[in-house]
Amino acid sequence: MLHLTFRQLNVFEAVARHLSFSRAAEALHLTQPAVSMQIKQLESNIGLPLFEQLGKKIFLTEAGHELYHYSRAIAQQLAEAEAVLGDLKGLKRGSLKISVASTANYFAPQLLAIFSQRFHNVTVSLNVTNRQSLLQQLASNEMDMAIMGQPPDGLDLASESFMDNPLVVIAPLNHPLVRERAIPLQRLQHETFLVREQGSGTRSAMERFFAQRGIDLTTGMEMSSNEAIKQAVQAGLGLGIVSVHTVALELEMKRLALLDVESFPIMRHWYVVHRANKRLSAVAQAFKSFLLDEAPQLLARTG
Ligand code: PGA
Repeated sequence: MLHLTFRQLNVFEAVARHLSFSRAAEALHLTQPAVSMQIKQLESNIGLPLFEQLGKKIFLTEAGHELYHYSRAIAQQLAEAEAVLGDLKGLKRGSLKISVASTANYFAPQLLAIFSQRFHNVTVSLNVTNRQSLLQQLASNEMDMAIMGQPPDGLDLASESFMDNPLVVIAPLNHPLVRERAIPLQRLQHETFLVREQGSGTRSAMERFFAQRGIDLTTGMEMSSNEAIKQAVQAGLGLGIVSVHTVALELEMKRLALLDVESFPIMRHWYVVHRANKRLSAVAQAFKSFLLDEAPQLLARTG
């Protein structure tokens, strides 16, 4: 039986997050010796070192990494319990922890801004990452909800779609295909495509789409952000397939062109996703309804 207290876990979580005893002490409003003492007790309860010091820096040991993984999930569970109890007391404040797929970062901040204007007392934290790591975060219950492309079956998730996500082909303005209409898919086989990293939802949707149609695309460089893809396309390194949400500005400023390709856009959808058995706080519930009821209209208005 593991002997540890919530307090020790809390202190451990702060030290692991900051990788610094002094910054953790500051964040927790404790003295540094008090923090070191809690960690020493925790290490002796567990019987393994959790941190190691190399030079001036501290690092998590393997045991530390394992415990950090659980302590974050436990902290989130406690925050959930606090929020649910707070709601019962009629408090309309709390925190909202959202993670979004990197592509959703092009519209999520606008929505969060409008939402926080309505709920002044809510602290929002936004984490941006790709699809694969979102799925890992959902599995370890590290946030209230995620905004992403359709999640895979079999993960015990509740997901509802709230907006279209069309994927389009982008080209530099001087590309010869810009002037053509109804470009046949086969024609794309003569082009080089810049692609997102493995683990990106955009990337897997694009691969599935061409594989189903028996088209073998030539892929050039692989890049881990939509921004990098857009810059590389502008620089003439190839064509790209991205969500239309990522290129609004470039299209308006005439820095990129959309190609009129047969069977395009690839129509995907944005989903709000959380664990199926999660107790959503009143704030999380309000945010979910806000997305489902208002997101597309609000975004159409703000552009
Ligand atoms: P991504 O997002 O390509 O930035 O991972 C889209 C998705 O989740 O489908």
